[in-house]
Amino acid sequence: MQYVNLEEIQLIEIPKITAPDGRGNLSVVEKDVLPYQIKRVYYLYDVPSDSTRGGHAHRELQQFLIAVSGSFSVVLDNGKDRKTFLLNRPNKGLLIPSGVWRELENFSAGAVCLSLVSEEYDEEDYIREYADFKSVKRS
Ligand code: TYD
Repeated sequence: MQYVNLEEIQLIEIPKITAPDGRGNLSVVEKDVLPYQIKRVYYLYDVPSDSTRGGHAHRELQQFLIAVSGSFSVVLDNGKDRKTFLLNRPNKGLLIPSGVWRELENFSAGAVCLSLVSEEYDEEDYIREYADFKSVKRS
């Protein structure tokens, strides 16, 4: 599994269209924002503030996360280093490449995590044990 440089992972700005007369904003993820075609969309909500989600890596799946409401933190781990991102704006997203361990935590009340992913759901694509992730990374 390829080494992923966490320094190259940054929040990506999603274009925002502001209605001219105070009627709010609209953000759109269009095809050139992501390096893959979206195969599936799902969202996390009603997550208790003391819960951690994620806790796995994917062999192939790439994922774009957006805090469409509220906020949460995403800790990324490439097997060597860790980097934490705060997602708290609906017009910023985090693109997580394959082969990265992720943990989502510190969900605010009402937080909604929208997830735009590159693959169908496939349990075989998950690495759910951190020790397995480390050994896949070493090999
Ligand atoms: P999981 O991907 O482990 O969630 P998270 O990373 O948010 O903590 O999925 C949680 C559960 O939901 C797990 O039992 C698998 C199931 N699941 C599906 O059935 N279909 C899906 O598309 C997803 C993403 C998860």
